[in-house]
Amino acid sequence: MRTSQIVVPDAEGLRLAVALLKGDKVCAFPTETVYGLGANAFSAVAVSAVYRLKGRPAWNPLIVHVGNADMARSLAAVWPDAAAELAQRFWPGPLTLVVVRADHVPAFASAGAPTVAIRVPAHPVAQALLRACELPLAAPSANRSEGLSPTSAEHVVRSLPEVPLVLDGGRCRLGLESTVVDVSCGTPRMLRPGALAAADIRGVVSVVDLPREGVTAPGTVRSPGMGKRHYAPRARVVLVPDFDEAALQRLWPPVGILTYRPLDSAAVGRGAQVEVLPADPQGFGAELYAALHRLDECGVSTIAVLAPPDGEGWMAVRDRLDRARA
Ligand code: TXA
Ligand code: MG
Repeated sequence: MRTSQIVVPDAEGLRLAVALLKGDKVCAFPTETVYGLGANAFSAVAVSAVYRLKGRPAWNPLIVHVGNADMARSLAAVWPDAAAELAQRFWPGPLTLVVVRADHVPAFASAGAPTVAIRVPAHPVAQALLRACELPLAAPSANRSEGLSPTSAEHVVRSLPEVPLVLDGGRCRLGLESTVVDVSCGTPRMLRPGALAAADIRGVVSVVDLPREGVTAPGTVRSPGMGKRHYAPRARVVLVPDFDEAALQRLWPPVGILTYRPLDSAAVGRGAQVEVLPADPQGFGAELYAALHRLDECGVSTIAVLAPPDGEGWMAVRDRLDRARA
């Protein structure tokens, strides 16, 4: 197995990354949401390497990353008004648009679907890489399939030690994946809640269908990747309404605790590893994966998470925690 290389994204680092990408190899890079595992979207060899490295099922399509909205549009057969308006408002940023794929765009990055998911990331290193390689980059999150998404270069290496190169952009600012919106037919439909809030999207397209909450039954999902178990740490994840003695006693030790409310000393006294995250959904979401990674590293058996509040603002966090514990 090859040792990964975490490199500074200076001119030399970018040169190494571009050489890999142009040679049909993969390379990991930071975005403002999570790290991506990039490959030339027009290379069957490179795209299949992404699937192989991640252990990703062949039916799950990838997001294609480009530098700007004009390039995005060139990959689409149809560019509906909703796409133009959302792109104008939120790109570069944590929004992925699903559109009908143009004929010249190969089907393999889309797992054979007639659509393609496209995103223009805002992270300066992602932007620099896209400019330097002049390729559309198919890039899923840079982790083993179903595992926790990476929000640092070290997370990538731990999950995918075979990746030849990781451009180190530090910690991801938003920490949760992009919001995926399907504008390929009729009313825009949110397929995956994410770092961009539903309320912001509604400010532009007035109507957007939201995904049904709770874990969706197989066969009813329009986004193939929204499978039941996903975004999961090694430890078992349970949601608890609060951390009283009785709740804690029922958990299989060693226990990790993830909360957004200060804990009373009873819980801390039992030797649990405790992560206290910000009490707002953006702050909590930004820290969530990093905290789950840390708890996993401590070797806890159970991660007890204080159940997130109701309300649309917490939708993406609830979605990830639902899948992490499925
Ligand atoms: O923030 C993000 O979106 C990150 C960074 C790296 O950009 N990427 C990411 O990719 O989260 P991934 O592969 O882990 O998740 C992509 C999601 C999956 O749920 C997949 O099924 C869905 O987007 N998707 C991709 N192409 C699609 C398509 N043509 N139709 C419907 N869903 C699609
Ligand atoms: Mg992923």
